[in-house]
Amino acid sequence: MNAIHKPELGAAAKLFLAKAPKMLIDGKWVDAISGETFPVEDPSTEEVITHVPAGNKLDVDRAVEAARRALESGPWGRLSPGDRSKLIWRLGDLLEKHVDEFAEIESLDNGKPVANARRDDVPGAVSMFHYMAGWPQRLSGETLPVSSPGDWHAYTLREPVGVVGQIIPWNFPLGMLAWKVAPALAAGCTIVLKPAEQTPLTALRFGELVQEAGIPDGVVNIVTGYGETAGAALAEHPDVNKVAFTGSTEVGKRIVRAAAGNLKRVSLELGGKSPAIVFPDANLDLAIAGTANAIFYNQGQTCTAASRLFAHRSIYDQVVEGVSVAASKVKIGHGLDPTVNFGPLVSREQHQRVSGFLDSSRSEGAEVVTGGNVIGTRGYFVEPTVLAQTNRDMRVVREEIFGPVVCVQSFDDDDLEAVARFANDTEYGLSASVWTQDLRVAHLMARKIKAGTVCINTHNYADPAWPFGGSKQSGWGREMGKEVMESYTELKSIAARL
Ligand code: NAI
Ligand code: MG
Repeated sequence: MNAIHKPELGAAAKLFLAKAPKMLIDGKWVDAISGETFPVEDPSTEEVITHVPAGNKLDVDRAVEAARRALESGPWGRLSPGDRSKLIWRLGDLLEKHVDEFAEIESLDNGKPVANARRDDVPGAVSMFHYMAGWPQRLSGETLPVSSPGDWHAYTLREPVGVVGQIIPWNFPLGMLAWKVAPALAAGCTIVLKPAEQTPLTALRFGELVQEAGIPDGVVNIVTGYGETAGAALAEHPDVNKVAFTGSTEVGKRIVRAAAGNLKRVSLELGGKSPAIVFPDANLDLAIAGTANAIFYNQGQTCTAASRLFAHRSIYDQVVEGVSVAASKVKIGHGLDPTVNFGPLVSREQHQRVSGFLDSSRSEGAEVVTGGNVIGTRGYFVEPTVLAQTNRDMRVVREEIFGPVVCVQSFDDDDLEAVARFANDTEYGLSASVWTQDLRVAHLMARKIKAGTVCINTHNYADPAWPFGGSKQSGWGREMGKEVMESYTELKSIAARL
């Protein structure tokens, strides 16, 4: 890779950054009470882009109070479902109107290729708001049968769960915001959102759209800050009714413990070590391109990334060769360069973590077929890496790397039960893919794999209408679809003796 060239930002993104963004609490743009800030970095160059407020417990308290007031005495709770729906739809429209600006800010902040942000992240967020805008008018209870003597009228009401704390990661900052904020608004909740400290910028720009759309003050509050301070305060807050978290399994467990104080509802979307399984009859062009993309997309920083690739013995060499060629063809560079399709990792911490795994793969005896190194001395770049001759005892096979590193293993068994045992040999259960043209194999494997999502001849796929989430240590609950609406509502049973 040549020296990193940093393209110019567009005028709108420049204007936003020139403002030194603040936090949004109760409809006002505020500094942290402590006055502290933290720097936001461009991971391609390590330059500081701007500083944002370092919120802590005091700011979280203030935001939760605002969210409580907005829930219980503001205009939000009195809006008709149709009016709530319109506001959520409008947020989708506003995002769509500013797609280029959001894509540029996201790319600069996270490092991801701007072309991907333009094509996937921002349009994905738009469609989440538009899909969820359909829910307020469809949420309803039921009438219930009563077996006791006399005349009765019994029914359920579906009510907002209340004030929700939402803690999101840095890999898809705007996407994860949309997955969290859109359904919570649709359910009628009020929100305190804490973006990841590595990537707070699109959330703050989104806060401006919340105001432009006409969402009442205090309904969406955005507190920037570190996980151990602002995040922990939100997770343990006694007046928060639910916490929704996406991030590491380790922190997920901490969230569960913090939530126990007031038994707040918890939903968790955590890590993965997802398998992609290529059967000998697969369309190999499709399978190679698909499984390469499934690990190298977003530099491997995807919770569903296909980090364990299983290829049948008879096609193993071809698959290893094909995925390695795909790895060697990526165009690496500054995320803002529209021709780049592979940017840096998000942070120094993540860069060190991934390079630690690359070192351990060598010492544990994996064969580095391609890649295997960090790139340059400035910016958090690593090579897309294919490791062959890996086995279940290696750290690189067992632990989530969250980088562009795929471990290839072969299988020579035609017994699907045995293949499924390989695939399920992990503490995670987020996602998986099966590559075959045989419908019988595809659907039987889909049943045998323990994961929240199984894709056939594709990977890393999600849709606002599909429930998404993990089994085993990949999480609790489901996001999207009608299931997420259940997770942001409480059901109340009402029995009337007539
Ligand atoms: P993390 O789990 O620490 O961070 C995710 C979010 O949780 C951030 O907003 C962070 O501020 C917050 N947080 C951190 N500690 C907290 C605490 N004690 N209480 C409340 N909130 C807290 O993830 P991190 O450290 O950025 O990455 C470490 C590893 O986690 C990655 O290498 C990857 O393996 C995994 N990860 C998985 C993600 C996923 O989508 N499943 C997303 C991000 C990271
Ligand atoms: Mg962390």
